[in-house]
Amino acid sequence: MVELTIPETPTVAVLGGTGPQGMGLGYRLAASGVPVLIGSRSPDRAAEAAQEIGFGATGDANPVVAEQADMAIIAIPWAGHEALVSSLAAELAGKVVIDCVNPLGFDKRGAFALDVPEGSAAEQAQAHLPDSVVVGAFHNVSAVLLNDRSLAEIPEDVLVLGEVREATDAVVALASRVPGMRGLYGGRLRNCAQIEALTANLISINRRYKTHAGLRITGI
Ligand SMILES: NC(=O)c1ccc[n+]([C@@H]2O[C@H](COP(=O)([O-])OP(=O)(O)OC[C@H]3O[C@@H](n4cnc5c(N)ncnc54)[C@H](OP(=O)(O)O)[C@@H]3O)[C@@H](O)[C@H]2O)c1
Repeated sequence: MVELTIPETPTVAVLGGTGPQGMGLGYRLAASGVPVLIGSRSPDRAAEAAQEIGFGATGDANPVVAEQADMAIIAIPWAGHEALVSSLAAELAGKVVIDCVNPLGFDKRGAFALDVPEGSAAEQAQAHLPDSVVVGAFHNVSAVLLNDRSLAEIPEDVLVLGEVREATDAVVALASRVPGMRGLYGGRLRNCAQIEALTANLISINRRYKTHAGLRITGI
């Protein structure tokens, strides 16, 4: 079992934090009082993105911020996922690793879910990070809304999936720090594939209705 130490306000590294999803999550978390470290393959790009985010965010190479943080969010494309997670096992040991990666393909009919041998991106990360606790979250939140600074709130639910209650509780609390956003436990990691795949449906909804759709769970 992985021993976790999760401070009440964890320092969060965003790996691939120079892209729209990582920058958007970095911005919303930093604006909510969470210390944010932006990671990139290029320390210069990371520093630039951190400066744009503001709120004290800083940037450096992915392995450096992974090592320094209490928690990390993986926000890179599916194509680079396996290589990145397998290269950072030491830096991420003993930490909660949040995976928001959606393994999707695109063709002329739109977005579709790709087959992942491990079941899901989150399960692939867990397979390569035996000394970390992987949690799936933030798959269905639009980067456009996260980066829209005219929006004071993100009125969406974030489904949080994982095997370890302490870790999913911490990520539920992290998501719930963002005004309007609510983190909700969404099941075990074996059920993460359909949450990743659901983003393909949201993309279809966005195209049809010209919007940035998100989730709200009723009854809670
Ligand atoms: N965009 C959305 O609305 C959205 C919503 C929910 C979930 N997601 C998920 O979030 C992830 C990131 O999305 P995004 O739109 O921000 O992606 P992106 O812009 O394509 O990539 C994010 C960053 O990842 C780094 N990167 C690119 N290729 C890489 C590779 N092969 N290895 C390591 N790092 C690489 C790049 O940073 P450097 O070049 O600076 O290293 C890039 O700025 C995706 O997996 C996506 O499924 C996105």
